Amino acid sequence: MNWFVTGTDTGIGKTLVSSAMLSLLAGSGLRAVGMKPVAAGLEERDGEWRNEDVEQLRAAGNVDAPLALRSPYLLRAPMSPHLAAREEGVHITLRPMLLAFAELSARADAVVVEGVGGFCVPFGDDLDSADLAVALGLPVILVVGLRLGCLNHALLSAEAVRARGLVLAGWVASVVDPSMLAPQANLQTLRARLGAPLLGVVPHLQQPGAAQAARHIDLRALRATAAHAARRAAAEESAALA
Ligand SMILES: Nc1ncnc2c1ncn2[C@@H]1O[C@H](COP(=O)(O)OP(=O)(O)O)[C@@H](O)[C@H]1O
Ligand SMILES: [Mg+2]
Repeated sequence: MNWFVTGTDTGIGKTLVSSAMLSLLAGSGLRAVGMKPVAAGLEERDGEWRNEDVEQLRAAGNVDAPLALRSPYLLRAPMSPHLAAREEGVHITLRPMLLAFAELSARADAVVVEGVGGFCVPFGDDLDSADLAVALGLPVILVVGLRLGCLNHALLSAEAVRARGLVLAGWVASVVDPSMLAPQANLQTLRARLGAPLLGVVPHLQQPGAAQAARHIDLRALRATAAHAARRAAAEESAALA
C-alpha cells in the first residue's frame, strides 16, 4: 500500500498531509514509513545536519529505516533540487531512489513518498519529479493548498499526472491561508472538476502536526485508493499476459 504525494506548490501542506497519512496508517496497526527521495535544505541542529521534512516524516511513521533509504538525496541548499544538486556536483538519477523505495516497501506495509515542490520540479537536465512518479508507478495523492490561485494549480497538476499515465487516486485540501475568500465554493469547484475522491480537508490548524491533521483524513477512503490501485495493477498485468 504505497502512494506518491504531490502538491499544488511548495509550502502548501505536503509534509503535513504525508505525516498525517503515516500517523493514521501507523495508528491502524500497519508498519508505515515515509520517504522523501530528494530533500533540499539542511539545517544544523545538535551538531547534525537535518532536513525538516525528513524529520517530520520519520516522527510520523513507525518503521526505523536508515536515512539513506528514507532520503537518498539530501541536498544542502534550500532551492530547486537541480540547482542544489549542481552546486554540490551531484547527479540525481532514478536508480538509487527506486532501490531505496524497494527496500523500504519490503520493510513496511505502507510507504508514503513525498514529492518535491510541485509535480514537475526539475532534478537535473534530463530528469524531473514527474519522471520519478512514473518510475515508481504509484497512485498519486494531490495536496491542494487552499489559497487564491489553487484551482488552476490543482487542475494543471491533475492534468499532468494523468498525461503521464498515472492515477490521481485522491486529493486532500489543506487550509494554508485562513483568510482565503469562499473556501467552500473553491472546494466545491475542485470536487466537481478534479475527478478523484476528496480524502479530507485539513482546516487551518493552530498547532499543525501529524496527529492533529490526521483527524481530518478519511482512513477508509485512503485505504480504498490503495485497493483500487492494486486491482487496476492486477488487471493491467493479466491484460499484458493475455
Ligand atoms: N492546514 C494547515 N494549518 C496550519 N498550517 C499549515 C496547514 N497546512 C500547512 N501548514 C503549514 O504550512 C507550512 C508548509 O507546510 P508543509 O506541509 O511543510 O508544506 P510542503 O511539504 O508542501 O512544502 C508548514 O509550516 C505547515 O505547518
Ligand atoms: Mg514538504
